[in-house]
Amino acid sequence: MRTWRLLMIGFGTVGRGTAERLLAAADALRGEGCDPMIRAVVDPVAGSVGHPQGLDAARLVAMAERGEPLDRYPDGEDPGSACDAIASDDVDVVLEMTPTDLRTAEPALTHVRTALLAGRHVITSNKGPVALAADEVASWSRAGGARLLCEATVMAGTPVLNLARAGLVGAGIRGIRGVLNGTCNFILSSMQEGREFDEALATAQRLGYAEADPRGDVDGWDAAAKVAILANLLLDAGLRFDEVAREGIGGLDAAAVRAAAARGRRWRLLGRIEREGAGWRASVGPVELAAEDPLARVGGVDNALVFDTEALGEVTIAGPGAGRAATGHAMVADLLALHRAEAREW
Ligand code: HSE
Repeated sequence: MRTWRLLMIGFGTVGRGTAERLLAAADALRGEGCDPMIRAVVDPVAGSVGHPQGLDAARLVAMAERGEPLDRYPDGEDPGSACDAIASDDVDVVLEMTPTDLRTAEPALTHVRTALLAGRHVITSNKGPVALAADEVASWSRAGGARLLCEATVMAGTPVLNLARAGLVGAGIRGIRGVLNGTCNFILSSMQEGREFDEALATAQRLGYAEADPRGDVDGWDAAAKVAILANLLLDAGLRFDEVAREGIGGLDAAAVRAAAARGRRWRLLGRIEREGAGWRASVGPVELAAEDPLARVGGVDNALVFDTEALGEVTIAGPGAGRAATGHAMVADLLALHRAEAREW
């Protein structure tokens, strides 16, 4: 059995979802010889705490849910700042789950750099570092001999990145198109069913789908970040985030969405990566699709992605694109991926 000492940075929706999924998946993980131990949690709002013997996931979640600062965890120790905790010798993996900032990628970028250069593996749900600084992240990873996994950044726990990297190697991906933002899809589906934009957005926020600033969803920034991540991780496209052409769903109202539905059409916010000469062109924008298009069939918070490949033609994957359990699952799946990779190396 290999014990993995985890540092959780961020204990909001994703952090709590991850703690819950670590508990729920404990038997499956142990069955693979993987024993996760929450060594410390650092969060500026929920509070911070560490314990050399590990913290109880259920207790952490219960405290955070009732607004009790985690600093009050019985016999807990102060782990210091996020960077202090990353530098601690008692940590094997940093779970970086702070809110995404697509202007600076901070504070996640500093956490990722500090961890990788110190030889700590990173699993992150934060889109900033990989969308804005993929090359730097790769160089820190090489320098520190540590890995960064980020399944949670695209379509939450629906296994897009791990699946494509394992199963589509050599398949010759010619293009990718997808519904990549759960909040926008939830809003568009809700409007189709008769609700208004503001009401649908408020529900998406309440359910934990939306970004801390929901303009990141509605204006297409979040989907553009996911497009950049897919382009750079799966296609080696060398694409900068600001090269993704972007338009949000703010120009669509409920009447337009319902009128399209009456004609058998569906509005979706699509991310697209297409060949352009020797390179790639990437974009995000609202598109009216036929109702039978696989990307039109996903409703609510679900996302879908179509890979156009030489070997297989079109391969479609669909599933939840946001949410507490779905994103927590991605973090746990990456921990198991890390564990399996190390097990192979032993
Ligand atoms: N706000 C994002 C979404 C969360 O709605 O898809 C998952 O990245």
